[in-house]
Amino acid sequence: MPDVEIEQFVRQRGFGEFLADTVVTFPGRNTNMAGSTTSGHDVFAKRVTAARRAGDGGAGAPLEDLARTRPWRYLRWPVVLAVDPGRGIHLTRWLKDSRTVAEAVTEQGLHRQPAHTLGAALGELHSAEFDRARVGRRPLPMPSVRVFSALSLTQYLESSGGLNEFWRTLQNDADLKRAVVELKHAEDEAAAVPIHADLRLDQILVTDEGLTVTDWEEFRYGDAARDIGTVLGEFLHRCVVEVAADDIAVDGAAGNGTDDEIVARGVRGLERALPALEAFTQGYRSVRSGRDRALAERAVGFAGWHLLDRVMAAAAYSAELSPVHRAAVGVGRTALARAGHFIGVLGLEAL
Ligand SMILES: Nc1ncnc2c1ncn2[C@@H]1O[C@H](COP(=O)(O)OP(=O)(O)O)[C@@H](O)[C@H]1O
Ligand SMILES: [Mg+2]
Repeated sequence: MPDVEIEQFVRQRGFGEFLADTVVTFPGRNTNMAGSTTSGHDVFAKRVTAARRAGDGGAGAPLEDLARTRPWRYLRWPVVLAVDPGRGIHLTRWLKDSRTVAEAVTEQGLHRQPAHTLGAALGELHSAEFDRARVGRRPLPMPSVRVFSALSLTQYLESSGGLNEFWRTLQNDADLKRAVVELKHAEDEAAAVPIHADLRLDQILVTDEGLTVTDWEEFRYGDAARDIGTVLGEFLHRCVVEVAADDIAVDGAAGNGTDDEIVARGVRGLERALPALEAFTQGYRSVRSGRDRALAERAVGFAGWHLLDRVMAAAAYSAELSPVHRAAVGVGRTALARAGHFIGVLGLEAL
């Protein structure tokens, strides 16, 4: 969606005017617009609202500033063209001939090579040393333990039927609550390294030159298991929710699969994804040496949480949880409560 403030800033910084027929926008939390400009640049512009800027972002120095001072072999981020911190506007070079890793996975699965590179890029980030005073270790708000016992009145009133069913499921599950409490405790105790903290596959772009990781808004010091777990959780989600839903639709019984059938389909999907997941782990370990079972267990826990988080986001728009989403909650809670059992299933043996 064209945005007057962005257009004005782009003009002020000497990039000219957006060429109308090139302008596109992307799904995201913030306002964005991308396009080619009259000065011959390809610009991706994003404007973060004042509330978000003051809110739960990483709130330290940006990765792009800190990372410039050292060489990187695998990790790439979009080149920053201009920033206006006051207005929350951020311009990067638009990678217009890219697609997201999420799209690549949907179309043909993830090949071993890019999966290995993604693991290596993450290992490189987690091995980096920045000035901690400039980055900070701010805790991430989710998973929240509070929602297991109480919702605010507004939260309750604003929740859809699906979301209320989701909260009810959580609040009747003492094992799950215990697992989340333990995971958060283990996270607090874990060594802090530089993390992306929102590593969804739709924020990673593929071009002919390789992978580029976007959206560094949440960048901070934190537990490496967050990033590894989010990548794994994205695959889990893809296998349990999307593949299962596609299969069921093809079988002509949309939404009617039993939990066992749905989980069995998810497991088959994971088996297909296993070579990529193993390559991801090996890529990570090729850069960040060591063997750490506790890291693997926490990563599985965060993968489980990520699945619940994705269900929560989908439930906000539905009157009830679908069978596929109920099954996904079951898989997510099992990953959280029995993380050790999932290490092999998720290709994490080398971690
Ligand atoms: N420089 C870029 N070139 C091409 N696509 C981009 C670029 N930066 C971000 N994107 C795409 O746009 C989406 C939204 O941008 P993002 O920075 O994630 O915004 P938000 O903070 O709103 O989530 C990303 O998920 C990514 O797919
Ligand atoms: Mg984003």
